Amino acid sequence: MELYCLGIESTADDFAVGITTFNGKILANIISAYVPMEGGIHPRKAARHHARVASRVIEESLKNAGIKPRNLSIIAFSQGPGLGPCLRTGATVARTLASYLGIPLVGVNHCVAHIEIGKLKTDVEDPVTLYVSGGNTIVSAFDSGRYRVFGETLDIALGNCLDVFAREAGLHQSVGEPFGAVVERYAAKGKRLIPLPYTVKGMDMSFSGLLTAAISLLKRGEHKLEDLCYSLQETVFSMVTEVTERALAHTEKEEVLLTGGVAANKRLQSMIRSMAEEHDAEFCVMPKEFAVDNGAMIAWTGVLAYKYGVVTPIEESVVKLKWRLEEVEVLWVK
Ligand code: ATP
Ligand code: FE2
Repeated sequence: MELYCLGIESTADDFAVGITTFNGKILANIISAYVPMEGGIHPRKAARHHARVASRVIEESLKNAGIKPRNLSIIAFSQGPGLGPCLRTGATVARTLASYLGIPLVGVNHCVAHIEIGKLKTDVEDPVTLYVSGGNTIVSAFDSGRYRVFGETLDIALGNCLDVFAREAGLHQSVGEPFGAVVERYAAKGKRLIPLPYTVKGMDMSFSGLLTAAISLLKRGEHKLEDLCYSLQETVFSMVTEVTERALAHTEKEEVLLTGGVAANKRLQSMIRSMAEEHDAEFCVMPKEFAVDNGAMIAWTGVLAYKYGVVTPIEESVVKLKWRLEEVEVLWVK
């Protein structure tokens, strides 16, 4: 008999549900994005969106998977890190489902899930992972039972840096186009490299000074927007490439995995690919559906953990806003 897990993802502005089998077949993966009318995401408004769409997204996932709620063996949910109100809404839905169905609940670390779905959906087995999104910028690799963080941002995430710049510049989005993709479009037409602060401290990165500098150049109006987008991309992508390269050299891993929403960027892909090739390492980029926040990654990581005895009793299912990647014991990787 096939066993199924339903995973709920709600760390930020997306409410997503995925269903996988215990053997890693993905049967459903549905994302409902909260799109604010203006400005950045507002945690409580996003949480309200999650509560509103939850039952519809769950129903649709079950329908896509062709199963009934009683066929589910476990419920997994993203327990952190993320925005409090958003996480709590997802956790409440997960607890309710698990108690109603009388099945175990498994709390999953969102960052671990990005890596595990990468290993499931691509050829990589033991990669250095660059996870770049609107809320995270992390270079990690497995070592002695955990995914260690080799480098990360000291302030804002890379995707957030692109988003804020695009918003300040008033860049025009087409329907459903993320700001990072708009920057990519403009950058493709840029030619001149304008110097911007490049901040790598040890293995960590800082993007906020660079963002401020880029915005003040923008406001002075001396440069073409295309050149500014181009320079912004070249600078921030060089920073993450440098840190990923050093992690690769240090760990002597043979694979590099690129994931997160920013992984869709062709220029970033080409920089990481060339760097990996220089080190004779295999390069894999996650397909977009599984690079962005999704429920399948939570379901699959829930399965892996559950197989090694991890369950999260309701009284321990409180969300962890700052739950770090390396705090998780990754029992299923040897
Ligand atoms: P997380 O909760 O993991 O931090 P998130 O809520 O930011 O994730 P994602 O969909 O993983 O969600 O990532 C969104 C980010 O990806 C945004 O900053 C967006 O601008 C960026 N992005 C999307 N497409 C591109 C692209 N082509 N180039 C650069 N950035 C992009
Ligand atoms: Fe994410």
